Amino acid sequence: MIKFIKYPQKLFIKTRQQFFQLMVNNYYKSQGSDWLNNPSILCASPLSSSHLKNCHVVESREKMLEHLPKGATVAEVGTQYGHFAEKIVSVTKPQKFHIIDIDLSLLKRELNQGNKKLLQEKISDNKIEIHEGDSSSILKNFPDSYFDWIYIDGDHSYEGVKKDINEGFNKVKEDGLLIFNDYTIWSVAEMIPYGIPRAVNEFCIANDWEIIFFALDSWGGYHDVAIKRMNVEKLG
Ligand SMILES: C[S@@+](CC[C@H](N)C(=O)[O-])C[C@H]1O[C@@H](n2cnc3c(N)ncnc32)[C@H](O)[C@@H]1O
Repeated sequence: MIKFIKYPQKLFIKTRQQFFQLMVNNYYKSQGSDWLNNPSILCASPLSSSHLKNCHVVESREKMLEHLPKGATVAEVGTQYGHFAEKIVSVTKPQKFHIIDIDLSLLKRELNQGNKKLLQEKISDNKIEIHEGDSSSILKNFPDSYFDWIYIDGDHSYEGVKKDINEGFNKVKEDGLLIFNDYTIWSVAEMIPYGIPRAVNEFCIANDWEIIFFALDSWGGYHDVAIKRMNVEKLG
């Protein structure tokens, strides 16, 4: 034990292993090896090559922004401090940008402190509209085929992502994109399962959507994926 306290990283890894083992054992006891229905490990159904044949792998989500259409109508679901929103604005220069978050207090604080000057400028020019509330309820109010792309980084649970997909997919144009941050089944920072891969893969398989960007994240494996309808030319 003393040894572990001297080496907090070792203690962290050991605790994580024990926690994981406990979850697995408990699940085995009750459900056997039915992994797809394990609520602790939200594994995803595997995609096939048809879902990946046009996929470009890029080094970061910032790099992915360079490939996205410029001057477009876009949304970010889940903005928090507005860090990535500012990158979206500076790289893709949307003609209209809808920022959606269930709690805008952190963004408002950043704006009040003068830390997000570009966002403030675009809000004043009516190029950015901010919406406070649950993302799926807010997305529902937009007309169909309104957005060129929607960046989704809000509720990371399987049910939450599914709700955003179900409201979002008809709100993007025929050649529009749904883009998801945190395409990982496990958050290493929070030690909780994430539902993004399960919800995204399930949707792509059931509806013939394909992954066109996979953007790596070297910090914690919080990768991004961008999906679009199959057999539709992607936006230029
Ligand atoms: C990880 S943060 C977003 C970070 C931001 N996209 C970035 O990269 O800078 C997740 C945000 O989603 C918001 N959120 C969580 N559940 C939501 C929901 N159901 N509807 C809208 N926003 C939600 C949280 O309030 C939080 O600000």
